[in-house]
Amino acid sequence: MKGLILSGGAGTRLRPITHTSAKQLVPIANKPILFYGIEDMAEAGITEIGIIIAPVTGDEIREAVGDGTQFGVDVEWIVQDEPLGLAHCVLIARDFLGDDDFVMYLGDNMLEQDLSGFVNGFHRSRTDTLSPTLEESVRDMPSAQILLAEVDDPSSFGVAEIGPDDEVVRLVEKPDDPPSNLALVGIYLFDSSIHEAVASIQPSPRGELEITDAIQWLIDDGRRVCHEVLDGWWIDTGKKDPLLECNRLVLDILDRSVAGEVDDRSSVEGRVVLETGARLVNSTVRGPAVIGAGTIITDSHIGPYSSIAVDCVVNASEIDNSVILRRATITDVPRLTDSLVGRDTVVTRGDSRPRATRVMIGDHCNIEIE
Ligand code: DAU
Repeated sequence: MKGLILSGGAGTRLRPITHTSAKQLVPIANKPILFYGIEDMAEAGITEIGIIIAPVTGDEIREAVGDGTQFGVDVEWIVQDEPLGLAHCVLIARDFLGDDDFVMYLGDNMLEQDLSGFVNGFHRSRTDTLSPTLEESVRDMPSAQILLAEVDDPSSFGVAEIGPDDEVVRLVEKPDDPPSNLALVGIYLFDSSIHEAVASIQPSPRGELEITDAIQWLIDDGRRVCHEVLDGWWIDTGKKDPLLECNRLVLDILDRSVAGEVDDRSSVEGRVVLETGARLVNSTVRGPAVIGAGTIITDSHIGPYSSIAVDCVVNASEIDNSVILRRATITDVPRLTDSLVGRDTVVTRGDSRPRATRVMIGDHCNIEIE
């Protein structure tokens, strides 16, 4: 079985962060989202992985992942010139995938459950299909397996309708009038019949080749598509609030490890990771939280659910429930909460007169002033 991770796309819902960086590299508990997916595949025994990248953000992703050795996998890079849809990714990965079964994993999705159970379930349901003749066995074998999760806002996702015999009968992408509350999670298992499906469908009204349409093509062609309903949490991290929620969920299961320097006027309470080379000066950190190497925190309080990346500077400030990317500087900010702060950003309280809020903000930012 091979793996295909989708890390292209435009990332419009995480602008401005994604003007300069790939959304799949935004860190959750100081580790890029994409790395969780690669590690999950490696743990499921999948070592041949194709990664779809976009021309603009691809180099940064290549640099972060390297050749895959750090994860124990081999990586093949597949450049998608334009974000023409999830099914288009399968189309351009044809040579890499050959006729092998594969897992397709959306690079901005994270889930609690291991991939192995899902992969083994697909394998079992294919090998256990014992119909009277070989031809019937092949016909009755599932061609695809999808993973579903109950959600409150199905219109933001692909949605599945399950028939009376528990088979998937219909899939629709981001419907106004959802047929159920079962959203398609961004992890799919396919056999080689998906290649005929992706080559047969037409672009949707939003101009993309939709994987939901390709799976619907399989169903209409008489193939079996099975499903599993997810245990545990699943998050599409493509927007700020779900990303912060995901950060909370991952921080909640971190083990305490204090390798950085804590001076005698500072304290570290609860599950905190203070990486080697991080420094606390007259500050408190109350977990769960993670502070990256080279970050210096002075006269400040870091509250629960904060992930502060490497080489940041925090002075006389309070931060909680936030993800701060590398080399950010935060000075004299009485309380920064529920925030996502990009790389090399400066947030500070100035003393120039007249007292006012002064900003230099990029396009598509979202600022909420106290
Ligand atoms: O998160 C689950 C949802 O993901 C499913 O419920 C939907 O059925 C499915 O269409 C997808 O919807 P999104 O609108 O969230 O997909 P998004 O455009 O965010 O793309 C998902 C990942 O695939 C992301 O890492 C970017 C990458 N991608 C996307 C497109 C459109 C590519 O690599 N190439 C592309 O052309």
